[in-house]
Amino acid sequence: MQKISVKNSGEIRLQTFDDRRDGRLFIGEAMKNVPLKIKRFYFINGLMGKKSVRGRHAHRKLEQCIFCLHGSFVLTLDDGARKQTVTLDDPACGVRLGRMLWHSMSGFSKDCVILVVTDDYYKESDYIRNYEDFIQQVKAGKR
Ligand code: TYD
Repeated sequence: MQKISVKNSGEIRLQTFDDRRDGRLFIGEAMKNVPLKIKRFYFINGLMGKKSVRGRHAHRKLEQCIFCLHGSFVLTLDDGARKQTVTLDDPACGVRLGRMLWHSMSGFSKDCVILVVTDDYYKESDYIRNYEDFIQQVKAGKR
C-alpha cells in the first residue's frame, strides 16, 4: 500500500499465518495492531462493481478501521487539506479512518467484501454527510 499522508489515518497491518493448504489466518488485536477499542463491526457485500459508491461522509468523533477481506476497492481520503486514493486489495492491510476524515469507497471488484470495525455504536448525529459542512468544520477546528 502507498504511504498514507492525510491526517487521522494510516496503514494497519494484521498478523498473518499462512497454513498453506489449510488456509490463511489474519489477526487484529484491539489497541495493539488495531488502534481502537472495538465496540461494533459491520461488513459489506453484494456490491455492484464499478456502479457502487459508499461512504461520502466524515465522522465527528468515531474512529474506524477498514479492511478488504476479498477482492479490491479504491478508498478516497480527504482531510480537508489533502486528498489521497488508496487501493485496498490485501486482507492483511487495512486503513485507519480517524475523526474528521471525509472518505468514500468505489471501484469495487464484484467479489469485494469489506469489514469495518469501530470504537462506538451507530450514532447518526456523529455523521457529517454534506461536504461543504465538512470543510467548514475543518476550518472552524483550526481556529
Ligand atoms: P453508512 O454508514 O452511510 O454506510 P457506508 O459508510 O458504508 O456508505 O450507513 C448506511 C445506512 O445504514 C444508514 O442509513 C445508517 C445505517 N447504519 C446503521 O443503522 N448502523 C450501522 O452500524 C451502520 C454502519 C449503518
